[in-house]
Amino acid sequence: MTILVTGARGHVGRAVLDALVAAGQDVRASSRDATTLDVPTAKVSADLEDPSTLDAALDGVSAVFLYTRPSGIDGFVKAAEAAGVRHVVLLSSGATLEPDSAHSRIARVHRAAEEALIAAPFAETILHPGAFATNVLGWRADIAEGVVRTPYPDARIGAVHERDMGDVAAKVLADGSHLGEALQLTGPEPISFREQAAVLADVLGLPLAVEELTPEQATERMVALGWPPEVPPGVLRVWERTTREPAPVTDVVREVTGHAPRTFRQWAEDHRADFA
Ligand SMILES: NC(=O)c1ccc[n+]([C@@H]2O[C@H](COP(=O)([O-])OP(=O)(O)OC[C@H]3O[C@@H](n4cnc5c(N)ncnc54)[C@H](OP(=O)(O)O)[C@@H]3O)[C@@H](O)[C@H]2O)c1
Repeated sequence: MTILVTGARGHVGRAVLDALVAAGQDVRASSRDATTLDVPTAKVSADLEDPSTLDAALDGVSAVFLYTRPSGIDGFVKAAEAAGVRHVVLLSSGATLEPDSAHSRIARVHRAAEEALIAAPFAETILHPGAFATNVLGWRADIAEGVVRTPYPDARIGAVHERDMGDVAAKVLADGSHLGEALQLTGPEPISFREQAAVLADVLGLPLAVEELTPEQATERMVALGWPPEVPPGVLRVWERTTREPAPVTDVVREVTGHAPRTFRQWAEDHRADFA
């Protein structure tokens, strides 16, 4: 049985690939440009927004780790059904679980992909991760100046390590388990942006000040980074709320994999070189 890992260059995709390889599974990795993909497995080019590229990637594949690309999802479902795929694990988002998710563009985009998979003739497992620990890689330029600039420094989120998402996805794909289920994945404890900055300062051995951005300044920065302007309001609403009620944490990583979810400190130690 071959398992296709889409987005194998991505933080989560690579972690899924590594966990499947460590478990001795037969894996094929995909990227929009596989010629530049450095993986220890078979690889293939495939664009989830161009279904005509999917047949070769899905040939002989029984299970898929899938990134959310709603504009190509109907073509993906058709191609996967034709190839005889039995199980798809979707990297969705915990944003779909937020109380005001109807007003969140991020939630709508992920829900569209979820609905297409739920209606498909093969089984699906939906991953609902909270905020990624990797989001702090966006602080690198500020950290080089000795500062972390963020709105809502006391927002407490569940910072999930990509290797925990990778371990969960790999286990579910290899076992063919958790069919028809949604798994809410988080780190072990809510941790504020201010606390994340303190952990990074400690692990990197640098003094780091925290400077609070207004919502308007944060919106400007997100749009400058390429986010569509309708995304920041939903993100900022969640962060503002989590200054009052911390984001939920779950024990699903442990329930599925048997190991505890990794802490933000472990993430910072794993990524020390990314801040060099
Ligand atoms: N950041 C958060 O806090 C958060 C929270 C919940 C959920 N999420 C979800 O997690 C995803 C980001 O995961 P990540 O951090 O692992 O992302 P990442 O490191 O930025 O990697 C994204 C991957 O998507 C692939 N990709 C992009 N467009 C594609 C297309 N048209 N066809 C095929 N592959 C495509 C890229 O592959 P190539 O460039 O090699 O083609 C790349 O490997 C988001 O899309 C979001 O859905 C994020």
